[in-house]
Amino acid sequence: MNVNDLIGFWNIYVAGIVLVAIIGCAVFLWSQGGATYTIGKTTGHSWDETLEEYNNPLPKWWSWLFYITVVFALGYLVYFPGLGSFPGLGGWSSGKQWQAEQDAAPNFQKYLNEDIPALAKNSAALDSGKRLFNTYCIQCHAVDGKGSKGFPNLTDGDWLYGGEPAQIEESIRNGRNGVMTPNAYLGDDTIRDLANYVRAFSGLSTDSASANRGRAAYARDDVICKTCHGPDLKGSLAQGGDFPFQGAPNLTDDTWLYGSDEATVIETITNGRSNTMPTWGKFLGEDKVHLLAAYVYSLSNK
Ligand code: HEC
Ligand code: HEC
Repeated sequence: MNVNDLIGFWNIYVAGIVLVAIIGCAVFLWSQGGATYTIGKTTGHSWDETLEEYNNPLPKWWSWLFYITVVFALGYLVYFPGLGSFPGLGGWSSGKQWQAEQDAAPNFQKYLNEDIPALAKNSAALDSGKRLFNTYCIQCHAVDGKGSKGFPNLTDGDWLYGGEPAQIEESIRNGRNGVMTPNAYLGDDTIRDLANYVRAFSGLSTDSASANRGRAAYARDDVICKTCHGPDLKGSLAQGGDFPFQGAPNLTDDTWLYGSDEATVIETITNGRSNTMPTWGKFLGEDKVHLLAAYVYSLSNK
């Protein structure tokens, strides 16, 4: 502490106001304690016609509470900075506090240049990744990452947009938007046949005549399913090229995003579906996106 800091004009001015205010409070309290009262007598003021002010003493506990705050304030000003430029005997400063919090905060940056498959085996990195996942992702993908209706399971190795490290990272960084257009124009019968055809791949259809008609319908020129799900129904990912960006699921496996019962599949085909994975890159920054990608990768690559 520099003596010059303590004697500058503004320093004395500010410190003086603080001290005068605190001591003034104490003196005022003390003077009130010594005043004389006549219990039950009003001051003579009245408001709103009938509202009158009594002149009773302050309750003792209440005065003591105020004396304690005065003592606390003086103690505080001795220990912490607050009295002009006096730094306080405790050595606390907002700069040091900031630095301490910076030092304690997890450092995500240091993982940025590490490979995702390597990070997925680094337990410290995965702990941080899991904490981020619990903060930003579980409301849709669930605590265990297994998702729910309309929100994909991230642990099963079955991907809409790809499970390669770069693909997962891309899904998180820029988000995804899966759109299936409605198909009501095909009519209820054809839609039911298509539903049976699709469900037959998972052994779910008992109406093989309908499933067979569905297979024939799928190949028709006016039935556009194949532009997204592919001629073999394996989904856009299996078709490679630009197709993964469409996110049309593989219809031949028994993983269902919306449900496998006939009514749900018919609803999907009739009305279409539209689904959005939010964009995280700008909000979280590259380092956290990278760590989250490693955590998600680890869920299906033990
Ligand atoms: C508001 C809900 C929501 C939140 C929050 C959310 N997601 Fe998603 N996520 C989705 C939806 C919906 C999809 C599927 C998009 C589609 O079908 O086109 C998806 C897809 C994904 C995919 C691609 C899955 C695949 O099969 O290819 C990954 C990876 C993913 N999310 C990771 C995350 C991570 C990591 C977070 C947290 C930073 C997160 N998500 C937060 C809704 C969400
Ligand atoms: C424009 C591309 C596109 C076309 C055309 C399309 N789909 Fe889809 N389909 C998708 C996408 C994308 C999804 C996933 C939607 C999502 O992520 O919410 C999907 C989802 C589905 C699902 C739900 C799968 C599940 O796991 O729950 C079924 C069933 C389905 N489509 C069948 C069909 C059939 C049958 C047709 C033809 C009548 C068709 N789709 C036409 C893109 C398409």
